[in-house]
Amino acid sequence: MRPNSACVELRATEEPAYNAPFAIPPKPSTISELLVLRTHTCGELRLDHVGQEVTLCGWVDTYRDHGGGAFIDLRDRYGITQVIADVTDGEALVKSLQQLRSEDVVLITGKVAERLEGQNNPKLATGEIELRCSHVELLNKSTPPPFTPGQRDLPGEDLRLKHRYLDLRRTEMQETMLLRSKIIKAMRDYFEEHDFIDVETPILGRSTPEGARDYLVPSRVHHSTFYALPQSPQLYKQILMMAGYDRYVQVARCFRDEDLRADRQPEFTQLDMEMSFVDADDVIGMIDGLVSRLAKDLLGIDVPLPLPRMTYDEAMRRFGHDAPDLRFGMEIVDCTDLAAQAEFRVFKSVAEAGNFVRAINAKGAAPKYSRKMIDELTTYVQQDFGAKGLAWFRVEEDGSLWSPIAKNFSPELLAQFKERLEGEPGDLLLFSADAWDVTCKALYGLRKRLGAELELYDPKAMNFSWVVEFPMFEFDADEDRWVAMHHPFTAPREQDVELLTSDPGKARAIAYDLVINGSEAGGGTIRIHDNALQQKVFDLLGMDAEVAQERFGFLLEALQFGAPPHGGIALGIDRFVMLFGQLESIRDCIAFPKTQKATDMMTEAPGSVDNKQLGELNIRVVPLSEQ
Ligand code: AMO
Ligand code: AMP
Repeated sequence: MRPNSACVELRATEEPAYNAPFAIPPKPSTISELLVLRTHTCGELRLDHVGQEVTLCGWVDTYRDHGGGAFIDLRDRYGITQVIADVTDGEALVKSLQQLRSEDVVLITGKVAERLEGQNNPKLATGEIELRCSHVELLNKSTPPPFTPGQRDLPGEDLRLKHRYLDLRRTEMQETMLLRSKIIKAMRDYFEEHDFIDVETPILGRSTPEGARDYLVPSRVHHSTFYALPQSPQLYKQILMMAGYDRYVQVARCFRDEDLRADRQPEFTQLDMEMSFVDADDVIGMIDGLVSRLAKDLLGIDVPLPLPRMTYDEAMRRFGHDAPDLRFGMEIVDCTDLAAQAEFRVFKSVAEAGNFVRAINAKGAAPKYSRKMIDELTTYVQQDFGAKGLAWFRVEEDGSLWSPIAKNFSPELLAQFKERLEGEPGDLLLFSADAWDVTCKALYGLRKRLGAELELYDPKAMNFSWVVEFPMFEFDADEDRWVAMHHPFTAPREQDVELLTSDPGKARAIAYDLVINGSEAGGGTIRIHDNALQQKVFDLLGMDAEVAQERFGFLLEALQFGAPPHGGIALGIDRFVMLFGQLESIRDCIAFPKTQKATDMMTEAPGSVDNKQLGELNIRVVPLSEQ
């Protein structure tokens, strides 16, 4: 540690004379060897400071010369302050300032002055003052940067990711990082207030099947064995319940080697929690309280509680998806019974085969969507969701339905379709006739796309809801077996335990997902706390007692030594930041994210390692050409 007793003393005895966002002790002129170089931040100076001598440190944002004078906009994460010097301040000083370029790091001392009349900059918080420079010190010269944080057009994402240190200097990125920090702090505070205990769980764990693909870490000590990075702390938090830590919370890093999307990263962060002696209402209620606190404190929005809940079956029926966007209507309407009466071959055959004809009403969209645009929608549902086509009707001014296929329908039947879909002049009715899943996906995709294109919701609006009672299992046709819809430790509803034997596809879980603006922001369940029931579920998933013992022996054993009823949830923190910050990409919510191809463009991870390291791990890399 540097000898700094004077500074410590100052901190203890003197209140800062200004309203600093953090406590920087004023720089005493007698002590030059201080840890703190600056007296103020670049966002802090106001008219009140006029006449004071101050020292600022920061990056050169912009530089200009004006009639023998030099102007610098000096930037740090708190804001921008204009610095000036002209010949009256001395030629050498002006020259020093004129030599500065974008992103140079400098220390500037000077006197705070009121700006001349008419020269105020209302866009800057410091816009009424400027700093009359008396001393400048170049702390670090910058090479001309590939882009500047203040430039108007956002540079390409590859460049931003490669030079992340420059990108993170942008105001928007700094605001997002601050929002992220506030969200995490608010979450931690909330759970601490509710008696949760923060427990860290291992990063090097054991590979357990039944999830996404694992990231593996070879063991040097134990030949041919691997650790797996945690996909979530799921089993550890359950074990903690069995250990009596009845309210656990952790800001947990999770790793999943899966296909990436705009809202998915291979390495992401969860607010993970678990509670004992609870049912679904307790966990949901705890998160309701958190959500309303975050919405109020961070966005100033009052969210009425309890948050609305809808079952999975209802969500699929009305919106075609388990994370419906409830900011607007345009619900899916089933028309299979009407379609069965039509002469139209596609509708009739689909209805007769026991499949579904479902539709949405894009209100007022008919004048906005040309035939060509409807053809594009058709290609969209075909290519993205495997739909066979898209049948459509326009509601004309006289109330009749028009479509190239209208001739295949009787006027009475058309009137019934119109009534079912509450069609009015100017509406566009869009139909998908297919297997249930395809109609869900196609109409969900169309609804999402049209909702945005037709601007059916306020992009600043926030909508929070729960989807509950998910199916326990989905049938995986490729593997010809049941797979757990959430994870294999999820408890069935009590009334559905019998169904595990008679009709597993119908069994519903005590599961709940938090949905924000049509995105899954969190998911959890009440867990099985009974060894026999857990074994039964493993059985259903194709793991006989021996396999289950090998993979999950520790859990099955712990369940026999006093396991309380328990359940919990994990919230996706990156997604919370994305949704609260109204951001398009999860990569903008993480300081050092991975690309869609799971690479880090700045450090160039993943990278090769030398043969010595591989040798120690008993690993030999087989070149692609030899595989
Ligand atoms: P689940 O897998 O549903 O549940 O994850 C919980 C939440 O984590 C977020 N999330 C992701 N965020 C970014 N990138 C990803 N690849 C990613 N995957 C998931 C989502 C999701 O809702 N252990 C259970 C929770 C429990 O049962 O308590 C679990 O991990 O917002
Ligand atoms: P076709 O008889 O295949 O020429 O289709 C006539 C119209 O019905 C076209 O607008 C197709 O896009 C639409 N269509 C075809 N198959 C389906 C389907 N399964 N669901 C909805 N519309 C369809």
